[in-house]
Amino acid sequence: MTLTLTKASNYTIEQLTEVYNHSRRGYLVPMQMTPDALAGYVHHYDLALEHSFVAHVGSETAGLIMLGVRNGRSWVTRLGVTYEQRGGGVGQTLVEELLAESDRLGIPLNILEVIIGNEPAHQLFLRAGFMPKRKLLVLQRPAGSAIAPSLPVLMLSREEIFTRLNSRQGRQPWTNETETYQHLAGLYGFSLQMENGERPWIVYQAAEGKLSRLTYDPGEADPVGSLTALLQHLHQRHPGMATTAENVSADDPALHAFTALGYTEAFRRVEMLRQPQG
Ligand SMILES: CC(C)(COP(=O)(O)OP(=O)(O)OC[C@H]1O[C@@H](n2cnc3c(N)ncnc32)[C@H](O)[C@@H]1OP(=O)(O)O)[C@@H](O)C(=O)NCCC(=O)NCCS
Repeated sequence: MTLTLTKASNYTIEQLTEVYNHSRRGYLVPMQMTPDALAGYVHHYDLALEHSFVAHVGSETAGLIMLGVRNGRSWVTRLGVTYEQRGGGVGQTLVEELLAESDRLGIPLNILEVIIGNEPAHQLFLRAGFMPKRKLLVLQRPAGSAIAPSLPVLMLSREEIFTRLNSRQGRQPWTNETETYQHLAGLYGFSLQMENGERPWIVYQAAEGKLSRLTYDPGEADPVGSLTALLQHLHQRHPGMATTAENVSADDPALHAFTALGYTEAFRRVEMLRQPQG
């Protein structure tokens, strides 16, 4: 039967949600979406449906892949092939066509994340020219207060939040880039006046009874001590909210602060990069 690819922009968000949920059967981490959740995902991560694809084998919907586009880089996401069609080359065709589309846009860097243990996807991305770059952790903490040290706390305005986000060193994971935060409501941030002279800060989203989107700069003198104080203040302020810290680098020097505050690892991903030759 013939494999055909159609631009995702020809489908409604409800149809795309159905294809996505169908193609995630048996996935390592259950990630079913509602149309509202997928619409939010498209918006938050700058997904370009006109550069994304739905696959059909004959008249049957067989899979999906989406491309996020930001200045000088693109992000491969939501790849899935329906259970019945796996192992027949649909995934490879979707990835190859998406990368060809990204290359046609002249984008020099392609980024993705794959959950560690997802061997079929990891192998597929290696074959498509992606190289593993770093490990990223998804950490979770149940609701609960913390006792915070007595330190002056400065709440950050939205403008100050974006000044801090833009000051972060190094490339952030796509989910945590400043462009993502620009699309978010319910953003908060504060900094602390530490005794060692550091002014560590944290930015987060508080929405729907949960804390998420944590990003921070604990400073250099004592990263673990500074992040610990930031998290203690965060959880003292929001004792009733469970927290997710997504895509924390596995070699973050402040990582131990999360463990000390009761965070546990939900799963880990490997970030992979492809740099097509110009
Ligand atoms: C990952 C996935 C998209 C692969 O799609 P697919 O159509 O089955 O893959 P293909 O048939 O095109 O295979 C292409 C290559 O992928 C790799 N691959 C696919 N299935 C594999 C498996 N079970 N084990 C190891 N490698 C595998 C191989 O390198 C394969 O090439 P080969 O057949 O020449 O060995 C599919 O398994 C899937 O939808 N899984 C659930 C959702 C998911 O994991 N999405 C990715 C999130 S990052």
